Amino acid sequence: MKKTVLIPLKDWAMEQGLSYSGALKQIQEGRLNARRLGRYWYVVKEVEAPVGDGVVLTLFTHAGGAGKTSLARDLGYEMASRGKRVLLVDVDPQANLSAWLGIVDAPVEETLLGLLEGRGRLRPREVLPGVSLIPAHVELARAELVLIREPYKMFALRKALEAFRQEYDLILVDSLPSLGSLAGVAGMAGDGLLVPVEASPKGLQALPTVLSVAQDYAEGLASLGMWGGGAFVRALIPNGLEGTVRDREVLAQLEGLGGRIPLAPPLVRRPAVYREAQVQRLPVQAVGGEEVRREMRALGDFLEGILEQVKAELHKEVA
Ligand SMILES: Nc1ncnc2c1ncn2[C@@H]1O[C@H](COP(=O)(O)OP(=O)(O)O)[C@@H](O)[C@H]1O
Ligand SMILES: [Mg+2]
Repeated sequence: MKKTVLIPLKDWAMEQGLSYSGALKQIQEGRLNARRLGRYWYVVKEVEAPVGDGVVLTLFTHAGGAGKTSLARDLGYEMASRGKRVLLVDVDPQANLSAWLGIVDAPVEETLLGLLEGRGRLRPREVLPGVSLIPAHVELARAELVLIREPYKMFALRKALEAFRQEYDLILVDSLPSLGSLAGVAGMAGDGLLVPVEASPKGLQALPTVLSVAQDYAEGLASLGMWGGGAFVRALIPNGLEGTVRDREVLAQLEGLGGRIPLAPPLVRRPAVYREAQVQRLPVQAVGGEEVRREMRALGDFLEGILEQVKAELHKEVA
């Protein structure tokens, strides 16, 4: 498989033992294949990558409480129970996903912040059978500052996760309730977005903004040769339905707003089950009844379809 990777010129120069200006000179003289993004130069490298088949998807919306973190946990568990090797990446400084899976003391060096500050590496740890987690840390909030100073690190997670595509079949990135730079790092980390939408007026209101930001991400990636041009928002996942006839209205509205984006089977609002899951540090399937498991199975079947589609696209790109 051939893959295009972009290496920040500063890093490339350091690797080669060159000065930054020496590297720039090579570009000016046409001796080095490089591209400019904003103020920064990247060296373009075609590599024969031993890329695995793993798919990377980001749970993304700036609306808080939409269900990103719960879905990372529950869908991760669902897919692992089908034999998939699952990696979860917590990109929210609130670190809910990490806490909910029992990790509260992760060293900063093993989180995304360590990677961005160049003083650590991502270290997954197994948190459920078949599910590993790269935890977050409250200090991860500092990442926004790192990214202002060094915006070329915007694709650091995307690059780092490439290496994990061999080891894992599915990588789910849990984004934060923001549209800042860190959310950009999460949103552009992989093969597109899964957007949970809370079935309420507030939840529906957030959707047009999410879709337009997603469009920006896709165009940004495409302009760098890192995106093949398919649909970047892979699915909308309706969450918190009331289990009543009113649900149909909400779903119809959602279909209208989402256009041609696939709509996942919806999740019903179950406060007691979700509360219990947090207390027990388990997915909802493990604490709820049969109807919870059925719901999550339907979502799992739907996600399998998306994974097949993404894989087909990835293979087409390199063919
Ligand atoms: N279907 C649901 N029914 C009841 N509570 C839910 C449901 N989905 C999520 N929650 C709860 O709502 C809160 C917000 O969900 P969370 O997954 O943290 O959203 P986000 O990560 O998008 O902010 C959490 O306390 C979670 O347990
Ligand atoms: Mg969250």
